[in-house]
Amino acid sequence: MIRPVIAGNWKMNKKIAEAVDFASRLRYDLEAPPDREVIIAPPFTALQAVAEVLRGSAIRLAAQNLHEAEKGAYTGEISGGMLSEAGCEYVIVGHSERRTLFGEGNETVNRKLRATIAARLKPIFCLGETLREREEDRTKAVIERQLKEGLNNLTAGDIGRSLLAYEPVWAIGTGRTASPEQAEEVHRFIREWIAGRYGREKAEELAILYGGSVTPKNIAELMLQQDIDGALVGGASLDAASFLQIVRYE
Ligand code: PGA
Repeated sequence: MIRPVIAGNWKMNKKIAEAVDFASRLRYDLEAPPDREVIIAPPFTALQAVAEVLRGSAIRLAAQNLHEAEKGAYTGEISGGMLSEAGCEYVIVGHSERRTLFGEGNETVNRKLRATIAARLKPIFCLGETLREREEDRTKAVIERQLKEGLNNLTAGDIGRSLLAYEPVWAIGTGRTASPEQAEEVHRFIREWIAGRYGREKAEELAILYGGSVTPKNIAELMLQQDIDGALVGGASLDAASFLQIVRYE
């Protein structure tokens, strides 16, 4: 049994004071956390302050992006080493907003995944198809390519440190969730692909999160699916009460 993972991706929301308030409330309310891994991903500027609030708690910190180089002349970028020093344990890599708004293709995603591992951080590797790709019945082909190219040169050990997140692009921020069955079908496909490449045991241990308009209302139903091991939550993670409800789904 994989321990369920609930991760909140705040995107470009919350200034430092708000982020610290949220983290304090979360820490207080999850004093005796349910048996779930809880992760929040604040914007860069709030990471260190939030890390201080969360120190010694079971709540984990993620960054939303990183640059693939260790250091150098990359104005405006942030390296894995810097994130690790700021208190992060995870990094979201390959989010569809990075792919579509910032032109990150599978090769860049692969370099970022490797940089994440090299910095001893854990990737939350996101993948998913667009509406058009789904309508053209290309979902599995797109996912397979994202897996193959994204995970190029990653070892079974690297996979053991990673989380995957299936996020159909058409369900992100749209209020339109994939049905549990639609999501399950892709999750199963991903797990089988991982089993083929890295072995059954690795595949069974890998947490595959679903993302795309997850709310307190639909979380339980999604989590009933055999291959859905958690959720990556955007909009509904911005409000502490709603995020807590998702964390405590039954
Ligand atoms: P959403 O975002 O929950 O607002 O759809 C999910 C995500 O982008 O990770």
